[in-house]
Amino acid sequence: MKLTPEEQSMLDGDQGKATQKAMQILLALGTIYGAEGMLPVASVQIAGVSYDNLGEAGLEFLSEMAQDGKVQAPTTLNPAGMDTENWQALGIPADFAEKQFQVIQAFARMGVVTTCTCTPYLAGVLPRLGEHIAWAESSAVCYANSVLGARTNREGGPSALAAALTGRTPAYGLHLDGGRVPGLTIEVKARLQGTHSFGALGIVLGQRLEATGKKPIPYLRGIGSASLEELKSLCASLATYGGAALFHMEGITPEAASHTPPDETITIHQHDLEAANHSSNTDAGEAVDFVSLGCPHLSIQEIARIAELVEGKQVKKTFWITTARPTKQLADRLGYTGIIEASGAQFAADTCCVVAPIRGRFKVMATDSAKACYYAAGKNKFKTVFKPLDEVVLEALKG
Ligand code: F3S
Repeated sequence: MKLTPEEQSMLDGDQGKATQKAMQILLALGTIYGAEGMLPVASVQIAGVSYDNLGEAGLEFLSEMAQDGKVQAPTTLNPAGMDTENWQALGIPADFAEKQFQVIQAFARMGVVTTCTCTPYLAGVLPRLGEHIAWAESSAVCYANSVLGARTNREGGPSALAAALTGRTPAYGLHLDGGRVPGLTIEVKARLQGTHSFGALGIVLGQRLEATGKKPIPYLRGIGSASLEELKSLCASLATYGGAALFHMEGITPEAASHTPPDETITIHQHDLEAANHSSNTDAGEAVDFVSLGCPHLSIQEIARIAELVEGKQVKKTFWITTARPTKQLADRLGYTGIIEASGAQFAADTCCVVAPIRGRFKVMATDSAKACYYAAGKNKFKTVFKPLDEVVLEALKG
């Protein structure tokens, strides 16, 4: 790989040990993937923030990097294992909280903006079309590439941190024009409305892409319109069930017009979505004891809708509203927080139902998120009820 004099000096250790280690990580990655050089990045988003996932080894690595590492690009964090203000009320153990704060403090020492969210694009970090970034959270990566037209590979925790500490990422994969060409046309012949149905589309599409064995970039046709919330749901689901980091959606996403739909085509029908829906409802009639909305983190419009639905009523189950801290602060100012908390529902800002340490605490979770269903079953061993947002709220209100 060709390095600029600045990059070479980072590799030589002139800018400290953490920067040197970071450049070594990026050089190894770039060499594996055949990158010719590095690209400057406009922003970085780091995943692997929850102490539940990092453990002691992860915390030690971060503490070491924080000894002399400083970020060289605006950097934010993926959700942490707890709400940093309201963790006690959400039942997070004090020893976990102490470790989680140490993780966040290590990032803060490196100059990271410690906003913990999987929707940085709703919290002040909005990449432009064609801009190179290094993001790690799979749903945000898919959203940045597909909806915003920015360019990022799906970074791992260490490579995202390395990008932050150097302001660089190796030029390969989705950073290059050749890495963004669609390989399969998807004709969608189904009614799509709401986050839940776009999540079901992500399940079907992800599974179909996996089944091809080559994971082609899909070019979607037949979807008339899609809101921000629907697209973020699709991105989360597609990244989870198919490992996809980019799709093009005809008439909706920015790069679709610059590509020709590939000849090879598969069709997704209404009955496919219904089957996906069915497969994510694993409760077998058992009572829901946990309701969670906000995977990916809720937008202010979604919070407004929840407030409308619960106003003057009382929820009967543990109900988490997960969102970014800046979105929660907006909800505070607009009066939605007061309405939602008066109903007994709880905000869980900075975190989510997947990365919080709640394994075994509940039996059946209701959500509108296909991604949350996947991890609820796989990580937390919950059964799941997968429904549209309004119906999930009704589930929380049911006795
Ligand atoms: Fe975000 Fe957690 Fe879902 S990180 S996409 S809310 S699993």
